[in-house]
Amino acid sequence: TLAGLDLRAEIDRLRKERNAVILAHYYQRPEIQDLADYIGDSLELSRKAAASDADVIAFCGVKFMAETAKILAPEKTVILPDVNAGCSLEDACPPEKFRAFRAAHPDHIALTYINCSTEVKALSDIIVTSSSAETILAQIPREQKIIFGPDRHLGGYLNRKFDRDMLLWPGVCIVHEAFSETELLKLKALHPTAPIAAHPECPPHIIDHADFVGSTSGILNYAKQLTGDTLIVATEPHIIHQMELALPGKTFIGAPGADGNCNCNICPYMALNTLEKLYLALRDLTPQVHIEEGLRLQAKQSLDRMLAMAS
Ligand code: 13P
Ligand code: SF4
Repeated sequence: TLAGLDLRAEIDRLRKERNAVILAHYYQRPEIQDLADYIGDSLELSRKAAASDADVIAFCGVKFMAETAKILAPEKTVILPDVNAGCSLEDACPPEKFRAFRAAHPDHIALTYINCSTEVKALSDIIVTSSSAETILAQIPREQKIIFGPDRHLGGYLNRKFDRDMLLWPGVCIVHEAFSETELLKLKALHPTAPIAAHPECPPHIIDHADFVGSTSGILNYAKQLTGDTLIVATEPHIIHQMELALPGKTFIGAPGADGNCNCNICPYMALNTLEKLYLALRDLTPQVHIEEGLRLQAKQSLDRMLAMAS
């Protein structure tokens, strides 16, 4: 039983004992963010994993993120607190279907969002994150035909912003899909001067009302430059923890779902990770990420292209 254990102290002890680094995404529970060595968006966390000299990476995020860390740092032990922390975008893109989609469009390259399985990365040409997608797309000639998966909202946003016509895979993030335009407009009426910051995984009827669109780190940086006193945040609400730490005097309101509050927009996969499970993972070094070497090397090619092309 874990009753009576000081989990924070135990996690600290194990982190030192195992020479482990704890990486956490902004959508993690505040108590996990608070003890992480690094917090970041998907691109930053990939870079941290690749550059770390720790023996163990404890990845507090979802499975595709922990797998990305293992692809980039195969000699390290990569653990994640809950092996069931998946992603609706990964689920929406089974490798066999993606392979058939590619085969049906042999003159297209596959530009693929990092929120996908290792198998889909191996079938792709270039990976992007929400913070690197615009920079990378700008380097691809306009005449080059592109398929973009698995997030049709991010792909659609890029198509509109850069006047491209990438073919889109029909996946969505269930969290960003749940924001309600009607409720957002009601909230905006209550706070007419508050800007709206949105993640590009949001559907267009939410993006259209946004003053700023960017990755989690992008949204956090935007919040830090806020001149008014209130910001409406259209992404997973756990990121608000970092905003409140950085700007204690300001008000951050999570964009609402159809029920009028932001609780339905908590990512159920990210929420599977708890302090207890992080402690157990560090103690037992399980669940661990394992990737077959041939598959890893193939997936690494598309990730390496991202790291080279992202500024
Ligand atoms: P970023 O942190 O790269 O913006 O990704 C958001 C996300 O949904 C991760 O699952
Ligand atoms: Fe996947 Fe959306 Fe959860 Fe991110 S927030 S892990 S994209 S389901």
